[in-house]
Amino acid sequence: MVMADVERTLSIVKPDAVEKGATGAILARFEEAGLEILALKKIRLTEQQARGFYAVHKERPFYDDLVAFMTSGPVVVSVLEGPGAIARNRELMGPTNSEEAPAGTIRGDFGTDIERNAAHGSDAPETARIEIAYFFDAMEIVGVVEALPA
Ligand code: CMP
Repeated sequence: MVMADVERTLSIVKPDAVEKGATGAILARFEEAGLEILALKKIRLTEQQARGFYAVHKERPFYDDLVAFMTSGPVVVSVLEGPGAIARNRELMGPTNSEEAPAGTIRGDFGTDIERNAAHGSDAPETARIEIAYFFDAMEIVGVVEALPA
């Protein structure tokens, strides 16, 4: 069997899941799946920060609602690392729409609908790199500074 490359991905536990006290349960799923938490913080996004993060969706009809939801309460943002971390995280989350997400997935168990869907995860290596840098400085991520040449 060929092992997947070790990757990093950005995870956001969204305001709906934070509000219902599901942060720990969601982070436990990542760890149980072999994803290491390299960095973690709880923050309340400003409107400008949420608009910037979701700028790729700015022409979509749901953009303003999405920004309002993402700023409605604190979120818990983390950097996850492991073999095939991007796809693994997306498997753990399940489909974007919580109404279609099976039980046992994060969005199925903790989300409500397509907007209140409990979690976000990067969709590709390039977006992961951009999204991680959006939230975390290199010095906040375990392993980044250690990997620099002495
Ligand atoms: P996320 O993975 O955070 O990336 C973009 C988000 O936009 C997505 O999860 C959904 O929460 C939201 N989204 C995507 N499509 C729709 C839609 N049709 N209506 C409302 N929200 C949507």
